[in-house]
Amino acid sequence: MVTAIYPGSFDPVTYGHLDILKRASALFDKVIIAVGTNLRKHAMFSLQTRLDMLKEVTGGTENIDPYPNVEIKTFPGLLVDFAWEQKAGAIIRGLRALSDFEAEFQMALFNRHMEPGISTVFLMPHARYTYVSSSAIREIAQYSGLCGSKEKDLSEFVPPIVAERLKEYFKR
Ligand code: PNS
Repeated sequence: MVTAIYPGSFDPVTYGHLDILKRASALFDKVIIAVGTNLRKHAMFSLQTRLDMLKEVTGGTENIDPYPNVEIKTFPGLLVDFAWEQKAGAIIRGLRALSDFEAEFQMALFNRHMEPGISTVFLMPHARYTYVSSSAIREIAQYSGLCGSKEKDLSEFVPPIVAERLKEYFKR
């Protein structure tokens, strides 16, 4: 039985993340989505909100099939420590474009240095999601309907519950 960890900030979860999750859950016996802290980024949504959104969109609501072999957890420290505690054999990362590669390569090699028994596996999302990132979604949502711009439809990129939360966040 091979467990894989799918870590990320998920700030917020997008259809790109869900595409990678679907591919990973077909390849591994168990996939643990691990919501962590990226010290290089300032999170917009709280850890709890990110977790709640992930639970909703993987739980069989939102017209998305439930993922039976997926669990969702948070981890406070280093990813490899969490992966080791969970007895995981692999870490999943989505790779969209060449620009992702440098940082991912460094992280994968550092993680392998710290835990040689855990391999990073890179998966590519469907081409329609190769340009989708949480940060771009946050930026568009922030300006949507403001500064003379029309309200933007993000339904191709994020599940309805996430679009709702983004709207609420920027209304405040
Ligand atoms: O979605 P993101 O922001 O690309 O996810 C990055 C994340 C959270 C997976 C990464 O920053 C992480 O693993 N953070 C925990 C600390 C750690 O283990 N860093 C790796 C050092 S090389």
